[in-house]
Amino acid sequence: MQPVTAPFPALRLRRLRRTAALRELSRETRLAAGNLIWPVFLREGEGIEEPVASMPGVVRRSLDRAVAAAREAAALGIPALCLFPYTEPALRTPGCEEAWNPANLTNRAIRAIKREVPGLAVMTDVALDPYNALGHDGLVRDGVILNDETVAALVRMALVQAEAGADIIGPSDMMDGRIGAIRQALEAAGHHDVVLLSYAAKYASAFYGPFRDAVGATATLRGDKKTYQMNPANSDEALRLVARDLAEGADMVMVKPGMPYLDICARVKAAFGAPTCAYQVSGEYAMIRGAAERGWIDGERAMMESLLAFRRAGCDAILTYFAPAAARLLARGG
Ligand code: PBG
Repeated sequence: MQPVTAPFPALRLRRLRRTAALRELSRETRLAAGNLIWPVFLREGEGIEEPVASMPGVVRRSLDRAVAAAREAAALGIPALCLFPYTEPALRTPGCEEAWNPANLTNRAIRAIKREVPGLAVMTDVALDPYNALGHDGLVRDGVILNDETVAALVRMALVQAEAGADIIGPSDMMDGRIGAIRQALEAAGHHDVVLLSYAAKYASAFYGPFRDAVGATATLRGDKKTYQMNPANSDEALRLVARDLAEGADMVMVKPGMPYLDICARVKAAFGAPTCAYQVSGEYAMIRGAAERGWIDGERAMMESLLAFRRAGCDAILTYFAPAAARLLARGG
């Protein structure tokens, strides 16, 4: 784009900022509830909403309360929920078998939500960490995260989720080759219309801390995830990962975390034009909520500004723990 400009005073850029009406007419991006995906934590039990200490306002929900969240999302115009289970410690094993149990917490939640709120899209996470005694997203042998064995396990996990009725499957594990393997298995099983949303550019980030508390992985994780998640120093590598995952059959791609990686979001959208998502992760949420609770920033304004920034960077959808609060504010005209 080659902007045409006149010299001052013919050009006064403040003219279009003078009133709310003029600012609205000249705004370049918009945020709507339809851009949001709401990550929801699950736990066993009934009638339970258990607070997550490091994420003020976020709870782990029993299935009945997850269905209530689904109803709330639909009423607010949020198109999708993304499910994350807190798995009972006894079900976390080195072989991660609970991940492809058709009756595990996530698969029961998919069925319950699709039965009660069929119009809402249900997204799932494909990675072994909630089921792994060692806390990693992949199978571990002698301290090494195994790629190909993990991909085979992820395929089993994705198939049972599709069988349960998941609309969108989100591999967040960063193993090589999993998008192609899952796509092929879904096609072979007749799940032609299941959407694959690849966590394509996922960085080894300190901002996942509160999430690991929420799913109970903080205590189990041995070491770090740097042999599979990306180096925060890299940008070209993100484009290679996105290109690879699109070529293997991803329908949508994601950049994660969000705010520290808006440059990556913008590059990915500009380079491929594919449906692009960002994950405003737990640590980003905790920073804004934590500062707001102390009165250090205006929490609502910071929330909306942070979400609008994703739209400006080119993101179509945003996974955010703020989804219900932001949608409520948007419904009030905020
Ligand atoms: C793991 C997974 C993580 C998140 C989503 N899926 C954490 C990790 O990679 O350790 C993080 C989400 C957040 O921080 O909000 N498969």
